[in-house]
Amino acid sequence: MAKTRIEFVCQNCGTTHPRWSGRCDSCGEWNSLVEETGATGVASGPGRALKKGRVMKLEALDGEADEAPRIETGVAELDRVTGGGFVNGSALLLGGDPGIGKSTLLIQVSAVLAKRGHGVVYVSGEEAVAQVRLRAQRLGVAGSPVQLIAETNVENIVSTLEAGTAPKLVVVDSIQTLWTDTIDSAPGTVSQVRSSAQAMIRYAKQSGATVILVGHVTKDGQIAGPRVVEHMVDAVLYFEGEGGHHFRILRTVKNRFGPTDEIGVFEMSDAGLREVANPSELFLGERQGPAPGAAVFAGMEGKRPVLVEIEALVAQSTLGTPRRAVVGWDSSRLAMVLAVLEAHCGVVLGGHDVYLNVAGGYRISEPAADLAVAAALVSSLINKPLPENSVYFGEVSLSGHLRPVSQATGRLKEAGKLGFEQATFAKGSESVNEPTLRLNTITTLADLVVELAAGAPESLQRDDDTGT
Ligand code: TYD
Ligand code: MG
Repeated sequence: MAKTRIEFVCQNCGTTHPRWSGRCDSCGEWNSLVEETGATGVASGPGRALKKGRVMKLEALDGEADEAPRIETGVAELDRVTGGGFVNGSALLLGGDPGIGKSTLLIQVSAVLAKRGHGVVYVSGEEAVAQVRLRAQRLGVAGSPVQLIAETNVENIVSTLEAGTAPKLVVVDSIQTLWTDTIDSAPGTVSQVRSSAQAMIRYAKQSGATVILVGHVTKDGQIAGPRVVEHMVDAVLYFEGEGGHHFRILRTVKNRFGPTDEIGVFEMSDAGLREVANPSELFLGERQGPAPGAAVFAGMEGKRPVLVEIEALVAQSTLGTPRRAVVGWDSSRLAMVLAVLEAHCGVVLGGHDVYLNVAGGYRISEPAADLAVAAALVSSLINKPLPENSVYFGEVSLSGHLRPVSQATGRLKEAGKLGFEQATFAKGSESVNEPTLRLNTITTLADLVVELAAGAPESLQRDDDTGT
């Protein structure tokens, strides 16, 4: 007989502990252990012989490999991110903060696909059918033949799906509300999320339908029921946006059937999500136009490219010790860039206050931002805007040389996608092919200073501080 085992599972990292404690030993999170019954029903443990299994046929690696059959959604931004549409029989996870627009996106996509004649079932675990209908009416897609159910029990959902004609797309909103009879824990706990997701993924593989699971993200950026779903599904998409802004970005974090470096851009309006074909307009619209002291840094967050504006203000100081104020970057890193500018480029800022700010409350931890910071500082000092639609990245060494940074291709690709026209970065970075960008590779920080000061107004060029 299968023994029922009580275990305590950390809801943050998924580690199991034999007894309760206030703090998870593995991830250090407080109050995250929840009692769950681990009845597996599988004979396990030492001393138990494995049941005799079937003998399977082994296959060669170089056999037939068909391109996975897909259904194009017709939503260009989504097709781009998924690598050409939803793969039949695959499972996707769509993560994002509550209220970011996941349900809106999926009901719109469901409607488009249903209109094209594909069977679509929208399983709502959070909203009643009437609420989903109301939303669809507001979005103007109520006429589309999407089938709805409001249900949270996985067994009921799978039986319902298997009873009718097999759908092409099943949306489950959200995975955290699902529960299965086989597990005792409350919905939303790690073991419930894991088992429910497993059941839905099994359904996808068996039926050939694409299953999209919606997952809410916790405050620290992890999908709750953390990570356990991410490795089970074929693709993980994140829907992101900044508070107070209308744009939303759809990113792939993992994709077994396509690239992971594409982004899809949408704008949230009264009539739902609108595709943004030319995202640069949206992002550049947020900037104040060319201003002295503003530089765009092409950064990376792990595997995700992030373009962010760095603002610098350099002003004559009235204090004995000039001020250095930094928001969003490392102040010792700023001190280093200032020292290199002074020692190797003749740019003396000893008598100036320096203020540095990373726009949007963003925090940069990469040394690759050195070059963008230096460009912003020099631009502010000579009171001349940097070339328009230009991005910068590169690490500055103490000798004044520029070190190539990793993932140059990813940075340039994102810059090209967001409508930038020129990129200045360290010579010797990985070979890149980004046809939309003018690539300006430089070897030393002094090259940059000479380039920027070249067209500065006469009066400023005479200023000793520019040192050119
Ligand atoms: P929703 O899709 O419910 O978010 P999620 O499923 O990710 O939790 O989006 C809700 C937000 O979107 C809500 O704050 C209002 C806004 N919204 C619009 O601005 N326009 C619209 O047409 C719709 C449907 C929602
Ligand atoms: Mg929702």
